[in-house]
Order: sequence, then C-alpha cells, then structure tokens
Amino acid sequence: MKLIYEQSQEGRRASSLPRNDLPVPEIPAELRRARPPRLPEIAEPELLRHFTKLSTRTFGIDTGFYPLGSCTMKHNPRVNERVVNLPGFRDLHPLQEDDGAQGALELMWRLQEILAEVAGLPAVSLQPAAGSQGELTGLMLMRAYFADLGEGETRRKVVIPDTAHGTNPASVTMGGYELTPVQTDPRGNIDVDDLRGKVDEGTAGLMLTNPSTLGLFDENIEEIGRIFHGAGSLMYYDGANLNAVCGISRPGDMGFDIVHFNLHKTFSQPHGGGGPGGGPIAVRDRLEPFLPVPAVVREDDAFRLDYDRPQSIGKVRGFGGPFGVFVRSYAYIRSYGPGLREMSEAAVLNANYLLARLKGAYELPFDRLCLHEFVLSARRLKREHGVTALDVAKRLMDYGFHPPTIYFPLIVPEALMIEPTETEAKETLDEFVAAMLEIARDAAESPELLKEAPHDRPVRRVDEVKAAKRGVLRYLFEDHPDLSTEPTAPRQLEAQKGA
Ligand SMILES: Cc1ncc(COP(=O)(O)O)c(C=O)c1O
Repeated sequence: MKLIYEQSQEGRRASSLPRNDLPVPEIPAELRRARPPRLPEIAEPELLRHFTKLSTRTFGIDTGFYPLGSCTMKHNPRVNERVVNLPGFRDLHPLQEDDGAQGALELMWRLQEILAEVAGLPAVSLQPAAGSQGELTGLMLMRAYFADLGEGETRRKVVIPDTAHGTNPASVTMGGYELTPVQTDPRGNIDVDDLRGKVDEGTAGLMLTNPSTLGLFDENIEEIGRIFHGAGSLMYYDGANLNAVCGISRPGDMGFDIVHFNLHKTFSQPHGGGGPGGGPIAVRDRLEPFLPVPAVVREDDAFRLDYDRPQSIGKVRGFGGPFGVFVRSYAYIRSYGPGLREMSEAAVLNANYLLARLKGAYELPFDRLCLHEFVLSARRLKREHGVTALDVAKRLMDYGFHPPTIYFPLIVPEALMIEPTETEAKETLDEFVAAMLEIARDAAESPELLKEAPHDRPVRRVDEVKAAKRGVLRYLFEDHPDLSTEPTAPRQLEAQKGA
C-alpha cells in the first residue's frame, strides 16, 4: 500500500477555503518559514480511500476478540460516546468558573463517591491521567506522609513482588525509593516467609496488585497487611486488575491504604495505542490531606473545586484531570447501577471458562481457579516442538483474534496471559478455544505453520526488535527508505512484552 506522500500530486486539494477578506498581518521576516511545509497534496476521494483502507488493516475491539491480558480490552458502549458528546460536557472550557460548570463538577463528585465505595477508602483524587501516574502519585503521597511523621529519611524501601507490572518498579524508582523484590510461592501468592525478612522500620510500603498479574487472588493478604502495618508501613494497591473484584471485595477492606484505578480498563474507554486514560487514587483518612489539588467538594447542593489544602502534594495534571474519561466511566458504572458486581462476576466466569477448556492443551503453572485473567505457558510446546509463545500469538492472528499478552509476567516461561473480559459471548469464547486447540495440534503436526505465521494479515512476521528500535516514524522524502524492498521473511524473535 502506498504512503500518502507517495500518492501526493502537486496542486491537488481535498478542500477549498473561503477567500480571506481580512487584512493579512505582517509576520516578522525572522519568524517566517524559509519554504512551505511539504504536506501531501491529495483530492478527497483518494484521501478517504487511503484512510479507509488503513482502517481495515488494523485490529481493534470493534473488529474482534482482544484477550490482551492485564490491558482489559472490553467493549466500549456507544451510549458513553453520546453522553460525552453532550454540548454541556463537550464544549466546557477547562477554565470555566465553578458556577457555570455545576453539572460537570457534580459528575466528578459523584464519580469520586462511587470510587471511594468501590475501593473501600474514604477520599479520592481524580487527577492522575493513567495507572502509572496514579502509582507515582501514590508514592509521592507516601513520601509526604512519612515526611510529616519525621520518618521521611529512614523509610527508603518499597517492596514489590516478582510478578509486578513494569510500571511498578519504574514508579518506585521515579518516586525516589529503593526496590525490594519479593518472591512468589508455589501457589502463586507472595512468599510470606521471604516477605517477613524484608519488611522493617526502613520500609515505606508495599506495592501489589490483587489479583496479581497471574490472575490469582493472594490468599495471604490479611497476613501481608499485618506484616506491613506492624512495621508502620503503608500498602499500595495497583488497581489495574480491579475488573476482577468490583463490588465483591474492596482493597480498603484487604488492608490497602492507597489505591489507583485504571478507569480506561475497568470502566471502559477506547484505550488501544496508549490513551486516553484515567488513574484516580483513593486513600485512607490519614493520607487525605496530602492528595493533589483541586478536590471536587460539595457544599449543600453546590459543587466547587477546592484548592485550599495546605499539605497537598500539589497538582499532578492540568486542570481537573481527563474529563472525557470521567464521563465515559461514570456512564459505564451507572448503566450497571447497583449491580456493578455482575460486571466482575461475568469477567471471572468468562476467564474460568476459557481456563477450564484450555488447560489440557497448554501448561498451567499455578493450577487454581483464576479471577478475571489467567496465565498459561507454551513451555511444553517449545520443549517438544520448538514452538514458542510468540508463534502461538502470531498464529492466532490468522484466526482473526488479537494475541494475548505474551512473556509476562516474567516468572512464567513462555507466558500467554489471557483476559476475555465480561462483554464476550460464549460463542466468541468457544471460537477462541477452537483456534487455541487447533494451534496446539498444529504445533505438534506442522510446527512450520506456526513459525511463519501470520500468513494472511496485511503485515507478516516483523522484526520486532528492529521495529521498536529503528522505527521509521516520519517521511524522509528523497531519503525515505524503500520499505517495499525490505525483507518480509519471518524471523524468530522473542520480544518481551508487558501489557
Ligand atoms: C498490573 C498493571 N499495573 C499498572 C499498569 C499501568 O497502567 P497504565 O497503562 O494506565 O499506566 C498496567 C497497565 O496495563 C497493569 O497491567
């Protein structure tokens, strides 16, 4: 397929602007461009065909099943888009005075209340724009809290399990803390004996997602809480996996002091390709004074932004936070109403159905019921037939499925992390099972079929390392490489992936 620059013909236009009858301002010579920008010149039919063609070469939750573990790719109800496009929301200026934005502020306040209830913690800030930013904000709150207690210099360590998502250690380091890794036991829980020796008065806290990235609920969570709170440390809950437990169990009741939500996962939001997202945090009373400003507060029947929080860590994002994400999340939650737990129950049921049907054909490293996702291993296929998790993932694309997350969590060799979500029908799950079982059979009978997959996608097996490290991200005109002559032969690469 030709790039849009390659289709460009001088003088062609997709639109015509009205004649300018205003005086043309004089732009100082030093600010003027030396030559016009080299934009593609193309007529509307070609322009439309180009982008329509591109849209058919990509994959999204609206084109097929997308079991990308940990990323929670669920259906985005269209009613959310209607609501977010109501002029009162859509056209609101971020600097609008509180009096003229009562509806928007009320929605934010109500969302805060709901999130507090889901977390089992009293105070919420909507500001952070993603889970990872919620993590960093949570660690900044830990620092502010311990500094206030006079323990800021002594509490230097944050414990994270070896199953943690990559953003956890990154946030710990960015937050200025030292990492203390803790192992996983043979049942897939945190190894409590390993943990005991690592928590002391130098520990600021724990960072944990529960259920873990293995899709398993930690059976020792109460004991873990006693260990941390006994040492005066705090517990941080990475809420990326909250889709498993909404309305069923609450992080605050499990002992956690700080929680982030990934609104874009748990409460739906088109979020492939990196955004937009929302990562609100909820905290216990004693951490509330340090929350970012502004907070949305209610006074009788009026709502306002409150900046008067002298101990606040300040702002972590512009204005009130990612407002469109708030509206969609609020709409998603309200469409379940008081039955929000049905969302999590269906997600857990779907995951366990897939697990039960697939565990004979793939290895299951921790043989327990899962929550909203589970991790299989292609280790046996690799040992016996030389077929890797990457090959399985690529072959799934030929069946029209998005691959699951692979090679994560790191403690499972040849990991395939599968998360179906609550919105998939049984027929879809059955089609996925049929494909996975056929792939396992083909691994034994015709492994080459897998090694060269995908066979019928617009892009075949790519050199993932080269694509990541030497991506051609802009058109270089005369110097642009001729990509059509690049080798397309599949290469055996195992790129590590997080979700
Ligand atoms: C377990 C876990 N923690 C944290 C994150 C980071 O969240 P975000 O992508 O919103 O920054 C993710 C993202 O997938 C995750 O799966």
